[in-house]
Amino acid sequence: MEGDGGSSRGAWGSQLGFLLAAIGGAVGLGNMWRFSATASSSGGAAFVVVYIALTFLVGVPLLLAELAIGRRAAMSPIGALRRVAGRSWVPAGYMFVAGGFVIFSFYSVIAGWAVRYGVEALLSGLPVEPGQHFGNIATGPAAALYHVGFVALTALVVMGGVRAGIERAALILMPTLFLMLVGLAVWAATLAGAAEGYSFYLAPRFDELLNLKILGDAAAQTYFSLSLGMGAMLTFASYLGKNHDLGRESGIIAVADFSVAFAAGLVTFPIVFALGFSDQVIGLTADEAEGVLFIALPGAFALMGDLGRGIGVLFFAALSVAALTSTISLLEVLVSSVIDEMHVERKKATMAVGLGVALLGIAPAYSLRVLASMNEIAGGLLLGLGAFLITIAVGWFMHDPVAELADGAGPLTRKLLPGWYFLIRFVMPVITGFVFYSMIVSSLR
Ligand code: PHE
Repeated sequence: MEGDGGSSRGAWGSQLGFLLAAIGGAVGLGNMWRFSATASSSGGAAFVVVYIALTFLVGVPLLLAELAIGRRAAMSPIGALRRVAGRSWVPAGYMFVAGGFVIFSFYSVIAGWAVRYGVEALLSGLPVEPGQHFGNIATGPAAALYHVGFVALTALVVMGGVRAGIERAALILMPTLFLMLVGLAVWAATLAGAAEGYSFYLAPRFDELLNLKILGDAAAQTYFSLSLGMGAMLTFASYLGKNHDLGRESGIIAVADFSVAFAAGLVTFPIVFALGFSDQVIGLTADEAEGVLFIALPGAFALMGDLGRGIGVLFFAALSVAALTSTISLLEVLVSSVIDEMHVERKKATMAVGLGVALLGIAPAYSLRVLASMNEIAGGLLLGLGAFLITIAVGWFMHDPVAELADGAGPLTRKLLPGWYFLIRFVMPVITGFVFYSMIVSSLR
């Protein structure tokens, strides 16, 4: 049976295939490494509260807007914006692709750390001096090598195309990851002293909720984690048929993405506090916090002997898997753009893009400073601008997005669509614009 769209561009093989791949693209290092780091450096529970609110009030409507563009246009970001919003939007499409290129190149450096920690835990055990160990392995030739290896692995999957490669990988990998995390969270709850971690993570100080920096950080985290503002979700939706209730699926994607981040916090913070690593976690600057997950957790695991070692292997395997499904979605945006715009064949396009990303990633593999800046600019500011532009494109330029989303929609989605359209036209430009402004202000500080 033809599950979806069915054009020569490729299509998802099943209803579930798109959902799992979209969730796989959303769930990644963003939910674990970036979420833990930002929650640590940006106010703990107060950040978490703002992040939850933004995910559902801003993230879901935006996600729906991207899906509407992608499915209507059935093209990658540049062509899709041209088709639904007009020629003048082509530069925005190029900005999306450039942003994705930069995100991929630092992202796979971090993915390389995860793979390396997993391999080391398996072969030689966990580091006894975690801070020092992280300092030793985070940058340098080996970090570059792991990064290049991770890009190559991603390229192999993407070469297989939508159905054979991406969908099959996501079908197996995503459920595995979630089960691992739940297991780890349950285990973490049994530790003596976990309560303090829960309190840092879950009990907000309300005077902090109106902080501009927390707003900017939480918004950047929302966009990054849901892969919004650079056309990743748009690209996945370009392979969709009209038989999907996109309102419902957006809700599912957001809940799944949030659940993984939240569970990752339920793993990280109790462990960190119970085992006395809190001083390495709280009150750090953004640069210092890059290593939180990679210093505190292995350190904690190492204190627990063989059991900790086993848990460490599992944890870093899960992290690597999550990272892979996200780099797959990043690379897919780039490759499909090259295919659509330059009419290059998939294999060649994948190799060319992979080579470029491998080269650019050498810089962050040699400098944590560069990595943090790339994360702040491409993983924050550009997504913030992209999110704002998408609300404008869909709210003010696209012809009848409500009709696009009504296709395949159930009664609930249909009922909510007029409200969504009002939000996208009049409310979201103000919110995403203000959020972008607060990102700029806090990054200039
Ligand atoms: N959402 C992914 C994560 O949380 C990262 C990502 C961002 C993927 C942007 C694609 C596009 O890890």
